[in-house]
Amino acid sequence: MTPVALSLDSVVVGRSARMRAVFEFLRVIGNSDSTVLVTGESGTGKEVTATLIHQSSRRKHHPFVAVSCALFSETLIESELFGHERGAFTGAIKDRPGRFELAEGGTIFLDDIDDVPMSMQVKLLRVLQNRTIERLGGTRTVPVNVRIIAGSKRDLKQMVADGKFREDLYYRLNVLPVALPPLRERREDIPVLMQHFLERYFRRAGEDVPEISPAVQQAFMRYGWPGNVRELENACERIAQTCTCGTVRVGCMSAGILFRAGSQPADPALPAPSLPQQAAPIALDDRLRELESNLISWALKVSNGNKSRAAELLQIKRSTLGDRIARCGLGRSHHLVEDVDLSHEDAGAIEQHA
Ligand SMILES: Nc1ncnc2c1ncn2[C@@H]1O[C@H](COP(=O)(O)OP(=O)(O)OP(=O)(O)O)[C@@H](O)[C@H]1O
Ligand SMILES: [Mg+2]
Repeated sequence: MTPVALSLDSVVVGRSARMRAVFEFLRVIGNSDSTVLVTGESGTGKEVTATLIHQSSRRKHHPFVAVSCALFSETLIESELFGHERGAFTGAIKDRPGRFELAEGGTIFLDDIDDVPMSMQVKLLRVLQNRTIERLGGTRTVPVNVRIIAGSKRDLKQMVADGKFREDLYYRLNVLPVALPPLRERREDIPVLMQHFLERYFRRAGEDVPEISPAVQQAFMRYGWPGNVRELENACERIAQTCTCGTVRVGCMSAGILFRAGSQPADPALPAPSLPQQAAPIALDDRLRELESNLISWALKVSNGNKSRAAELLQIKRSTLGDRIARCGLGRSHHLVEDVDLSHEDAGAIEQHA
């Protein structure tokens, strides 16, 4: 599936069956004015999807106003959404339109609707039913022509069952439901998202996208992405900032992702310990030293001699790695990147992982 393009910076990418179904639904509801409820874990793309819905609607030449309901206290949210008249409360020195009025003719995205307090839920219900608002401290009823898209991280139906969300409001919002699956349930999207974000961030830095080593691709595929697309985007941005080696290798990746991917960072391959073929005596200490030396060599190779990264890969302190390199006599067989000779890449790595 080709990505659905909006503008250079606002694109929703996906080729999994789950995302294709979402795109198809968005196409069908394109010109509808009905309320949409976009649900999904944090970072799954609720806001970017809301933008896409707006951009594909006939309201696209009017404002798109996004507001996170989680950002405002119970008292502030009303004035934020509906505006206030001068003198409505201490500090209200002039009339101020709310977000609904600012979105006139366009779309309002009420993100984090699951955080709206009960008292405000009643007022929102009234807007949805009557399509009018009243500014705080005002007496006028102002009609609003705004399409509403709500976003929620939590299962609103469950919140209704728990008595935390009004059932009538839930039904008013859930007219056109769009459920965005977490990234771990649509792994086919990982390579296209990776390509998309690496292109964006390398290009932004004025560079071509380098080749991506198979080990990095594997690690991206294996990692769980609890932060969903946002976390993947951040990982790609970080790579674009730190990778200067012409090919994106495991050494360019955040160690956290690498370790939790459970991947064997394999360029070059992690040395496997060989077992004796016969029942002959072995000197365990010698064998352990040999294995230690091989593993340190491997980590230094993988990280292009960068000691901080090699230490991360081995999950030991950088100073401990220094001692062990000396003990194994490996100092001369690797070109080590020392503190005194920090490349741009190395400096970034230390900053982020110190
Ligand atoms: N399918 C996608 N294609 C391209 N970019 C995406 C996609 N999904 C998410 N993104 C990008 O990932 C980042 C997070 O997306 P967004 O802010 O829409 O998530 P969200 O679900 O609203 O998160 P939160 O619940 O934390 O507010 C944004 O930079 C967005 O552009
Ligand atoms: Mg959001």
